Order: sequence, then C-alpha cells, then structure tokens
Amino acid sequence: LNIAVLVSGGGTNLQSIIDAAEAGEINGQIKVVISNKENAYGLERARKHNIEAVFENDEEKVIEILKEKEIDLVVMAGYLKIISPRFVNEYKNRMINIHPSLIPSFCGKGFYGKRVHQGVLDYGAKVTGATVHFVTEGADEGPIIMQEAVPVMQDDDADTLAARVLKVEHKILKKSVGLICDGKVKVDGRRVYINE
Ligand code: GRF
Repeated sequence: LNIAVLVSGGGTNLQSIIDAAEAGEINGQIKVVISNKENAYGLERARKHNIEAVFENDEEKVIEILKEKEIDLVVMAGYLKIISPRFVNEYKNRMINIHPSLIPSFCGKGFYGKRVHQGVLDYGAKVTGATVHFVTEGADEGPIIMQEAVPVMQDDDADTLAARVLKVEHKILKKSVGLICDGKVKVDGRRVYINE
C-alpha cells in the first residue's frame, strides 16, 4: 500500500513506521510525510530517509497531494490538527490515528500530548496505555484497531508516564500498519477484526 504519514511534532511514531518499513515488517511504502508545522522534526526524519517531506497547512492542498500520490492509507502520527468531515470521509476506514491513552478514557477535546498523561495522573488511574483507531468525524472515537496497557507508577510525572506510553505507541502503531498492509484488518461497524 501507498502510505502517507501526517505529523505535527517530533515524529517518533513516524520513525517507528519508517524503521519497520525499512526492516521489511510493513508491506507498504511511505510515499510522503506532510506536516502542518514548517519546523516539525518529523519532516527532517523523512528527509533523512529520502521520503518526500511537505509542509502544508491547507487541508484542500493536503488532500490533493494524497490523491496525486494515490495514497491508500493515511497515518495520523502526532498530528495535532482537527480535520474536516469531508477529509475523514474521503479516507473512511483508510485513515488511522495513534492516541496515548486507552480510549474512551482521557481522549477527545483538550486531551492531547502531555495533557493526556497529566489527566491520567490527576485522576489517579492505575493503568493507562495507547490506542490505534480508525479516524471518524469525532476526535479519538473511531473503531479501535489495537490497544496496549501501561502501568502508572506512584512516582510518575507526565514526562515519565509519557515516555513509557510512547514506547507502546511505537509498537502498536507499526504492528497495526503492517496488519492493514497485509489486508488482515476488517471493520464491522464499531468492531475491528484482525486475522493474524
Ligand atoms: C505522542 O504521545 C503522540 O501520541 C502524541 O504526540 C506525542 C508525540 O508523538 N499525539 P511523535 O513523537 O510526534 O510521534
């Protein structure tokens, strides 16, 4: 499959997909990395691996690029921009997102980046984790593809917790992309079936 990855920041999730693809773990090719932030380090990561890197903040132009490159799968990897229902529907069941909590907890409006982990700590939750899901019109509420739990330690702060969750994000995101590229992921309403 032709893959596009959308980033807004450091791009460590992007890096995990780049590395997995280069290691032959993903039967797909990252054709382009697009960011709404000109200085997103994720764009630099793409350039270092000879992947086209585009700074583009206009959604119409982003969609044009995706069509021009015949993208089959759009991966939102730390992409901090709300996209329109039109964009979502263009890529229904072909657009996935990684969120650093166990959806439906600590997600949706206001829960992004460090705020997710601060919310977990403030609530006193003992377990958190990461979720890969299909993108639908509402934020962080599409059908769930994969999740993995992470313990919350008593001496955690948002940074130490974020770091532990980030490792799991990398793992389940590259695994999910690999399974989708192998045609092993089927969506049935809210349920997602994986035939490993
Ligand atoms: C990650 O926790 C991701 O889930 C969130 O932003 C953090 C950084 O992601 N959206 P990355 O390093 O830019 O992939």
